[in-house]
Amino acid sequence: MSTEKEKNDVGNQQQSGTQIEGQKKEAQQQKKVRPRKAKQDKPPENDPGIWRMNRRGAFAFAGWLAFLGFIATATIGFLRYLFPRVLFEPPTAFRAGRPEDYVVGEVDTRWMDQYRVWVVRTRTGIYALHAVCTHLGCTPRWLDTEGQFKCPCHGSGFTMDGINFEGPAPRPLERLHITMEDGLIVIDRGIRYREEMGQWAEPGAFLEYT
Ligand code: FES
Repeated sequence: MSTEKEKNDVGNQQQSGTQIEGQKKEAQQQKKVRPRKAKQDKPPENDPGIWRMNRRGAFAFAGWLAFLGFIATATIGFLRYLFPRVLFEPPTAFRAGRPEDYVVGEVDTRWMDQYRVWVVRTRTGIYALHAVCTHLGCTPRWLDTEGQFKCPCHGSGFTMDGINFEGPAPRPLERLHITMEDGLIVIDRGIRYREEMGQWAEPGAFLEYT
């Protein structure tokens, strides 16, 4: 009796051992087929997702930048067209008073500081001299006691007429256009007359007045 029982116990033990081993194998197989959890903290190197978005954004930004630059350039060009660069220079002509304001035989220096002009009245008329030395452009001085213009830079001398007679100045002083309007002398520094070119004989170089 006891022997049969022992046999049954051994059989049961063998059966339970076989079941445990089967369960182990099944568990190992499940372990093998279970998918691995994907790592989410770091994207794969070949994943272009976020970079593709950034590149697209950069292209859009560059496009907007170019568009705004074009608009700004066009606006500036349009405004410059509306307000062209114009150099406003003071008028070259000025009114120099009446002929009676000047003394015959004297060089008048009242317009020197403002216009660099001498006005000379003679017995037959009036002329205006440009106070610029014909050597290198210095401003000569009228020396009343010596009756001549003297350049302080290199010593050129000019007669009351403006003729050079000493120093390096190569030619006479220039005369300026002079006319009479409504009883007033008008001198235009923009029109000059050169003696060596025979221009002092032209009408605008001398205002006849007695
Ligand atoms: S600039 Fe007048 S003499 Fe030279």
